[in-house]
Amino acid sequence: MRIMGADCIIATLGTFHKHLRTLVLRLFGPENLRMVLLHEIQQTAQANLLSWLDHPSIEVKEATSSMIFSITAKRLISYDSSSSDGKLWKQFDAFLQGLLAFPLYIPGTAFYKCMQEKKTLMNEKIALDLLFLLLFAGFETTSSGITATLKFLSSDPKALQELKEEQNNIRKRRANPDSEITWEEYKSMKFTSHVIHEALRLANIAPVMFRKATDEVHIKGYTIPKGSKIMVNPSSIHLDPTIYKDPNAFNPWRWKDTTEPVGGSSKEFMAFGGGLRLCVGADFAKLQMAIFLHCLVTKYR
Ligand code: HEM
Repeated sequence: MRIMGADCIIATLGTFHKHLRTLVLRLFGPENLRMVLLHEIQQTAQANLLSWLDHPSIEVKEATSSMIFSITAKRLISYDSSSSDGKLWKQFDAFLQGLLAFPLYIPGTAFYKCMQEKKTLMNEKIALDLLFLLLFAGFETTSSGITATLKFLSSDPKALQELKEEQNNIRKRRANPDSEITWEEYKSMKFTSHVIHEALRLANIAPVMFRKATDEVHIKGYTIPKGSKIMVNPSSIHLDPTIYKDPNAFNPWRWKDTTEPVGGSSKEFMAFGGGLRLCVGADFAKLQMAIFLHCLVTKYR
């Protein structure tokens, strides 16, 4: 909370929290995803993929971080990656280190560096707490999601083949194959969606979530005393063999029989958290991943 700011969405409770969620959903909710972001994601993905051709090799996590950051930052702070040096996202590197560090505010520690970097941003008036969190939460996670997906696909030719077929069929059905992806086409990407869910299940991008018991809680014969700090560990569910057969295997087809969680979360799938604090960017993240995959596999090897 010290890193993100006291008024940041993840630190607030009750009606103020609800209010902030509503604000965020105005930006990244279904209407904007369909009417604005679908187009912007596609433009950015195509331009980035094209620019990668000039390089002998690409560090996927770094390249997708820059790409996803520019999509989110364009919406939030009118950031134009082509007219800047395109490196603003790198300022957030220290935060990632600081987030999982012991909070020692002493020069030299990751936490100290993180707080210092935030101060710099504050002075530049960019980082209102909400903007700050959104910029960070959006690109770091989604670029990890894309990176993990590419890693799994690159070692699974059968899954890659089925993904390519699905995406190329969408392209072939169009009057003009190069016209933009429509919302209906996106919604028809069933196998792609299985691939994304499977990659997120295995990658466990948000490794932990934190809660505090505001009351004494009784659950399955245990008592959690009021005031306890709780660390939720989604991978204990995602890698549980009684829930997912052969849990360490990348198997997108398993989602054909398991219903994908409506709204992004279920008891068995917590990549986006759940409940009141379910990730507000879940649909945005999945859209970015799917559109990027479409642009990649229909035009490139
Ligand atoms: C694959 C990509 C993503 C993953 C895996 C992910 C994961 C999560 C998780 C697990 C939580 C719950 C944290 C908790 O319960 O303590 C969360 C919350 C949140 N996420 Fe995401 N996220 C992703 C993408 C995004 C994007 C693209 C945005 C916005 C641009 C975003 C914005 C947020 C916000 C604002 C919250 C806090 C919600 C609240 O406290 O009410 N996330 N995310």
